[in-house]
Amino acid sequence: MKIVHDIPGLKGNVQVPGDKSISHRSIMFGAIATGETKVTNFLQGDDCLSTISCFRKLGVQIELQEDQVVIKGSGLAGLKEPKDILHVGNSGTTIRLMMGILAGRDFHSVLIGDESIAKRPMTRVTKPLQQFGASIQGRKNAEFTPISLKGGPLQGTTYEMPIASAQVKSALLFAGLQADGTTTIIEQARTRDHTEKMIKAFGGKVQVDGLKVSVQGGQELKGTTVHVPGDISSAAFFLAAGAIVPNSKITLKNVGLNPTRTGMIDVLSAMGANLQVAPYENGQAEPAGDLTIQTSALRGTVIDGELIPRLIDEIPIIALLASQAEGQTIIKDAEELKVKETNRIDTVVNELRKLGVKITATDDGMVIDGKSAISGGKVSSHGDHRIGMMLAIAAAISKEEIHLEEAEAISVSYPNFFEHLHSLISE
Ligand code: S3P
Repeated sequence: MKIVHDIPGLKGNVQVPGDKSISHRSIMFGAIATGETKVTNFLQGDDCLSTISCFRKLGVQIELQEDQVVIKGSGLAGLKEPKDILHVGNSGTTIRLMMGILAGRDFHSVLIGDESIAKRPMTRVTKPLQQFGASIQGRKNAEFTPISLKGGPLQGTTYEMPIASAQVKSALLFAGLQADGTTTIIEQARTRDHTEKMIKAFGGKVQVDGLKVSVQGGQELKGTTVHVPGDISSAAFFLAAGAIVPNSKITLKNVGLNPTRTGMIDVLSAMGANLQVAPYENGQAEPAGDLTIQTSALRGTVIDGELIPRLIDEIPIIALLASQAEGQTIIKDAEELKVKETNRIDTVVNELRKLGVKITATDDGMVIDGKSAISGGKVSSHGDHRIGMMLAIAAAISKEEIHLEEAEAISVSYPNFFEHLHSLISE
């Protein structure tokens, strides 16, 4: 697909789609709670639709209306043995969190996904869940799909996570909610806490003490209304576009500002971007606000340590941003990038190099030297939504034509991305 290039300026407002992590969790909690749950601003992207499809196969009634999703939950006990394979598509969040839920259910299920899912590591979840008492089989000792799972009674446990991962933490919290006694998870670094917030929103209890998160088993969750804020990981593409496309000023409305997710804002500030943050005071469980970005003179920065989990999904677009900054940007401590939808160290470095960016892969990240002009060429998303959107923003500042292959992957998290991009192009 030929992508619009050499954009003279981006101006206006965008309402980015609902947060992907929160949308997944709203379906999962709605499905295991008792009573009705309503979800507003739900992200109708491919990944979250996979979550809905899996829960329908588990017997949960879910209605996708125009402006909300309605879930009729009958509690954990209401989930039924699926007669069909649970297909998670491209969604790591769906498969990993679902395993935590299924681990405590006394029935058999089989989980598979697409080609990318088949390469992504699952032992990080299957091993601790086996420790809880679940029976899980899969290719290469339950490292890879297809995964076959027979749940049952679980014993609460204390588990120290070897990696910083909200997916692992969340899967274990779902198991902990069904286990006997207390489950305590110790994180390496603070990761997104949407699961903890949602346990509380559904009337449950969770204790957070520094890097320790504990839940009691046997709690009854009650259906509620979830307002999903806009996804900061989707907003990130327009934040970067606003900063690097000349003559631009973009306001992103109702963007989620949960502090475990706002690393991109910290990086933009460190790079000297002209960014205003206007938080709402609406008392919602998940904070949100408006972000306004203007064309900016950027400088390189260092991104590492505890900042990494707060912007892990934004690294592809940060790499492009860094290519337009004066000086060097170093990204380290980010080996987790290797096990995302693609190996994002390789895909970011290889695709940006094709466009003339001075970027080098390292063992745990990348080094980018700015500032380079973006040249034309043929690039590919490699089936990774965030690589696709990053390359589309690269085209916006290229004087030459760019062809993007596998652009359709973008619908995983941002089905109307191109519509929004085109709506901002000034005459
Ligand atoms: C997610 C957590 C992150 C993130 C993914 C969504 C979640 O993964 O990259 O896109 O919703 O919990 P990890 O927890 O594996 O780092």
